[in-house]
Formats: sequence, structure tokens, C-alpha cells
Amino acid sequence: MPKIVIAIDGYSSCGKSTTAKQVAARMGYAYIDTGAMYRSVSLYFSQHHVALTNPKAVEDALHDIHITFNFNPKTGRNETCLNGLNVEEEIRKMYISNIVSEVSAIPQVRYALVAQQQRMGRKRGVVMDGRDIGTKVFPDAELKIFMTADPVIRAQRRQIELLQRGEMVGLDSILENLKKRDFIDSNRTEGPLRKAEDAIELDTSYITLDEQTEWVIQLADEKI
Ligand code: C5P
Repeated sequence: MPKIVIAIDGYSSCGKSTTAKQVAARMGYAYIDTGAMYRSVSLYFSQHHVALTNPKAVEDALHDIHITFNFNPKTGRNETCLNGLNVEEEIRKMYISNIVSEVSAIPQVRYALVAQQQRMGRKRGVVMDGRDIGTKVFPDAELKIFMTADPVIRAQRRQIELLQRGEMVGLDSILENLKKRDFIDSNRTEGPLRKAEDAIELDTSYITLDEQTEWVIQLADEKI
């Protein structure tokens, strides 16, 4: 059976990654969380005080960054590793969400990560979620989904997710962060968040994660 690329793009906290993970597991495909890659770069820049406006410092730092996804058999989950260290928990924290859009707007950062993402998906058989997968990373993806949802519902979902990870954050600051990220992500010059012309839009405000997954799998089946 031929393997395809499924690109899932859209606004922050629409349920892209949970859906992508479930679809990948059901189809026996690899799942690549590109947001985790931008978050890992942000963590490194924060830890090493890299000046975002200094192109040489950014370039040097990018040479020192190695991001991998490791499957942990104990938890049954994929973990994001930065230079061999598991950073899965750290990169989801609010202080990273507050800087990640500025870091990911830097063209050099995007060139480096897009190239790595293209290498990761070259054999196809991947579900990749992000902001520019259908427009930039895999413009030839066989299936492109663009997810949207009501901002308040997105903020509520994000709040629950943070709580489950032990971080208590007010709804207002989450909503502000989501809107700010969506704005920066949509207005940057390199790889802005945009619906690809051939993407199928899905509003996830009032549907469950299982319904989202079923819907994507049905569309994928039609493409194979
Ligand atoms: O998907 P997630 O919300 O974890 O992504 C965090 C941030 O990473 C986004 O707000 C965006 O700034 C950046 N990102 C990006 N391009 C991608 C994936 C994520 O710019 N393909």
C-alpha cells in the first residue's frame, strides 16, 4: 500500500497534535510534532542567552542543536530530546510558549528546521503537524488539513493541558498568549501560518478528539 504524507496545520491548541498522534498510531505512520522542534530551539536559546537579533549567535547556536524524538517503552510515548536530553515536559511550559513565536519567526531557524523536517518525512508514511507543513515543508502532501477553533475554547483546552502537567495558569493569560502567537505566526515573512489552497478546513470547536481522528482517517483512506 502506498504511503502518504498527512499535513495538519492550524492555529494553536486546536487539537492538532493529539489528532495527529492518534491518526499516526492507527495508520502505523510516524508522527512528527514540529511545534516541539521550535519549542526545543527556544529552550536552548533561553538556556544559552542567545540574542535573537544577532544572526551569528543564532547560526552558531543552531549548529549546536540536535533534536530527536525517542520512543519511551515505559510510558509508551514519544519524547522530544534536545542534545540527547528529554525536554518533553520543559518545552510545554508557559515561559517557552511566551517566546516560541519570536524564535520561530527567525528565518535561519526556519531554514534549519524545515530542512530537518523534510529529511524526516522523505520516505513518506508520516503525519506532521505545525503551521507551514502544507505550504512549505510538504507542499506536495497528499492530504492537507487546516484546523481552526473558537479562541476561548482553545484557551480552555490549553488550561486543562497545563493543569494536567502541574502548571496553573489563568485563562486570560493563556488566551492572550494564543492570540499573540497566532498573530506573530500569521504575519512573519518566512513560512507564515496560512491555509494551503488545497487544504481541507476543520473547525474543532464542538467535536471530540475521536471524531477529529475518524474524520482524518476517512479522508486519508480516500487518498491511498
Ligand atoms: O504546535 P505548538 O503550539 O507546540 O507550536 C509552538 C509554536 O511553534 C507555534 O506557536 C509557532 O510559533 C511555532 N511553530 C512554527 N511552525 C511550525 C510549528 C510550530 O512556527 N511548523
